[in-house]
Amino acid sequence: MSETIVKEKWILLGAGRGLGLSFSSLVKRCYPEIELFIASRSINGFDFSKTDLFEFYAEKIVEFDADRVFYFAGGGPYGPFSKFEWKDHLWSLNVTFGFPAYLLNYLGKNNPKIRQMIFIGSAIAESQPDPHAGMYCASKHALKGLVESLKKEGYPIALTLFSPGYMNTAMLPKAAWPREKSRVDEPEAVAQQLLQLVINTASS
Ligand SMILES: NC(=O)c1ccc[n+]([C@@H]2O[C@H](COP(=O)([O-])OP(=O)(O)OC[C@H]3O[C@@H](n4cnc5c(N)ncnc54)[C@H](OP(=O)(O)O)[C@@H]3O)[C@@H](O)[C@H]2O)c1
Repeated sequence: MSETIVKEKWILLGAGRGLGLSFSSLVKRCYPEIELFIASRSINGFDFSKTDLFEFYAEKIVEFDADRVFYFAGGGPYGPFSKFEWKDHLWSLNVTFGFPAYLLNYLGKNNPKIRQMIFIGSAIAESQPDPHAGMYCASKHALKGLVESLKKEGYPIALTLFSPGYMNTAMLPKAAWPREKSRVDEPEAVAQQLLQLVINTASS
């Protein structure tokens, strides 16, 4: 089973901390032969809120010649919608949806050999209202809509939407109710589920 992926090259986008960091640590531990390229603001200086750099980032991603591309980045302001400036909402839209959508368009035209693209959705925010996180919620709905539509239209790369529940990362506010009700998974456990999903996909 592992034979199928050990010689692969994977790109982990937005994996500086949280789930992405747990996933990169797990892959390095379980499959040290897999070549990784990791990019986020703190690693290699990729900032997916900067729309003027979308094309540059997409070119770098193609240059790495990866087998699988993972997109972990996401987020947005938390609080009443009108309390924040438009630039804050735009940041959320671009990081959570804009860059992955751009990348899908770019790789659909310039696809080298990528076998699979994996996007991190949200079991809650992609299909339910998320009060005080409106633009994040709208962006996750959009991501799900786009990925599921492209799958149905026969997009040339295999697409996977992996949608975890609440996780114990910096993204979840300290006083959030899921923490108080112990409804929060550790990112290491979710990273295990994601790796297993990819292994299953690769060997099917
Ligand atoms: N936490 C939850 O309860 C939860 C639930 C469901 C789904 N999710 C989803 O899971 C994914 C990972 O979230 P997390 O909980 O691990 O959150 P996190 O700890 O806040 O991590 C966010 C990740 O995105 C990267 N990132 C943020 N802004 C970026 C930007 N402008 N450009 C490039 N990279 C950026 C960060 O790396 P740098 O700081 O290095 O840029 C970091 O690795 C997200 O898509 C999130 O929506 C989270």
